[in-house]
Amino acid sequence: MATVRLQPEKNRSGDPKRATQGFGKVSREAPSAFDPVRDIDAACAHFEANGFVVLAGALNTAEVRQLNAFCDRTQGERPEAWGLGERRKPHHRNQGLIYSQPLLDHPELDPFTRHPASFPIVARLLGGEDRARFAEFNFRETPEGAGPGAMNFHHDAVREDRLTRTPYMPCDWLCAIHYLTDVEPGAPCFCVVPGSSRFDTLKEAHVALGAAYREVPLYGPAGTCVLYDTATFHTRLDGDGKKMRRTWHQYYARGGWLRSALPTTDRYIRPPTPALTDWNLFPQRLAVSPDPNTRLFFSHWNTAQGEWAASGFDPEVRKAMPRGEQ
Ligand SMILES: [Fe+2]
Repeated sequence: MATVRLQPEKNRSGDPKRATQGFGKVSREAPSAFDPVRDIDAACAHFEANGFVVLAGALNTAEVRQLNAFCDRTQGERPEAWGLGERRKPHHRNQGLIYSQPLLDHPELDPFTRHPASFPIVARLLGGEDRARFAEFNFRETPEGAGPGAMNFHHDAVREDRLTRTPYMPCDWLCAIHYLTDVEPGAPCFCVVPGSSRFDTLKEAHVALGAAYREVPLYGPAGTCVLYDTATFHTRLDGDGKKMRRTWHQYYARGGWLRSALPTTDRYIRPPTPALTDWNLFPQRLAVSPDPNTRLFFSHWNTAQGEWAASGFDPEVRKAMPRGEQ
């Protein structure tokens, strides 16, 4: 576990065209970073208390090099898949580069979907190895010289019962962001509001958390992993608009039926978390894998996946879908 003190980043430009990023209460102190193997108990406790955790050195140097080489190669071979070509699809507008659904055509990425460093922690936070489910996998890049961004604090997908259920954990969805480049002050930076997962709005969190409210930029070298509950308020804090940042994002969902309680009833059973999107597809080799654990991990199908599977995984059916480019 390591603690590093950092200077706050200026995030209020006064430029009305830019998003106002939060309340400007940016933390001066970096949160603890945990060793994913040695500090697993402490890492899980930090996540449960704060809605996020930083894992130091989750990817080794060879893996960082391998994934960067993958991004470089596919940007050259398939620029349109990254939004680099002329045919820019809606998901390529206004948020830098993204290679959505690379698993469809690249089985060499399969071992990363349950990475030996981060996955044991992810699984524990979702209720156990047999309860963790795959949801989405992509690579993103804010290129060098991209200029200021326009993202404000938000949460991703949420379930209404998060506001009142007991116990709160396991969370509904969890995202792992692995840094593929060094994220230092000046680079666009993932930033969270600790303890904000049980509020509807950032304003409510600001009022209720009072003096404890803070916006925490999560800097770290390439290989760092950030796990966050999708209900935790977060943003991509603007950097100086010059430095580049490349990241691998993977979302997980919670599987299985779980006894829980709401204030109005003590007989509430939480169903498996719903599909995160209506477009994300799982490749045939994973969705109908001969290995039962892999099939279970890739079992949260949406309607697009159901139709694609019914077609016998027809490439033409895939091509007709919004991010099914090949
Ligand atoms: Fe988000």
